[in-house]
Order: sequence, then structure tokens, then C-alpha cells
Amino acid sequence: MTAVYDDLGDEATSDIPVRRIRFTINGAKKIAEIEPRLLLSHLIRRGVGLTGTHMGCDTTNCGACTVLVDGKPVKSCTMLAVQVDGREVTTVEGLASASELHPLQEGFREEHGLQCGFCTPGMMMAAKGLLDRNPNPTEEDVRWALSGNLCRCTGYQNIVKSVLWAAEKQRARTPGAE
Ligand code: FES
Ligand code: FES
Repeated sequence: MTAVYDDLGDEATSDIPVRRIRFTINGAKKIAEIEPRLLLSHLIRRGVGLTGTHMGCDTTNCGACTVLVDGKPVKSCTMLAVQVDGREVTTVEGLASASELHPLQEGFREEHGLQCGFCTPGMMMAAKGLLDRNPNPTEEDVRWALSGNLCRCTGYQNIVKSVLWAAEKQRARTPGAE
């Protein structure tokens, strides 16, 4: 489904193992037949076609590929796709509702939290993981939660402000979240 092989003749290609997995992505149930070595990032981008998850390094350094798996941020270039069998994946495309931006998206707009935007999906997903477990983070909490995500434009100050803006907005929407 997502892989291209060199055609070395029938024997070689028939030896390639394929696993069937079932998973949910942004609320949609999916079945995929994939090579066990396929990375989650490639399943998301090439298989499901959700290209909001960016690939910056492919080596676990930049965090651009961060998504949530069962609510926890993971670098999707560091996880095998077969590991999401039976699990729930959320990408940046799953943040907004049909009619409303997510507070994090609003926050990045309001506080100018992006320049080129390449790191932004990963930053937002790492921040969502934080706000889901800690709706009232300190600046230090935000910096720690985003410490695995790099911004080549070095816009860290405004990224942190954006997440704090989103946290405040989210608390105002859900009284009792303090
Ligand atoms: S692309 Fe996954 S950490 Fe950089
Ligand atoms: S906004 Fe350009 S890499 Fe972060």
C-alpha cells in the first residue's frame, strides 16, 4: 500500500512480509496492509495522505513529525506503523473541528508562533499532549514539553507564548479546568 520495491523477480517480491493492522486516525477507522518495517510517519503521509505531519530529519531529532498515539506525543519517524495496531492516532489535521480552530491554532495565529511553519504541526501536537495532561502549565512546563522540538527559524519565544495563550483560552472554555 505504501511501499515501492525494486522488481527482482517473483521470488524476491513474494518474500516481502505484509502485516494487516487496524487503527483510528483523527476519528476515522482504517485498515492497512503494510511491511513491518514501515515507519508511522510514512503510513500517515503516504498511506493515509495526511501531509500536515512533517518530516524534518527522520532521525528523532527535530520533532516535526510529532503526532499523538493514544493521547501521548510520539515522534512518528521513530515508531513503526505496526505499533499503532488497535490504537488511536491524532495528527495536526485532527485538531480543528468542522467549524472552529483549536485554541492552539488560534494561539499560534494570535501570538505569531510561526515563521516558515515547518515545525508548527509538531510543536502543536507536542503542546496538545501537554495541555491534555496539564491544562494550567507554567512557562517552564511549556519549554520542557517542547524541548524535543526544534524550530530552525528560532521562534521559540513566540511559540511558548502561543501555547500559554492556548492554555488560557482552553481554561476559559472549560470552567473548572484549573
Ligand atoms: S522527522 Fe521525526 S524527529 Fe525529525
Ligand atoms: S517556524 Fe520555521 S522551523 Fe519553526
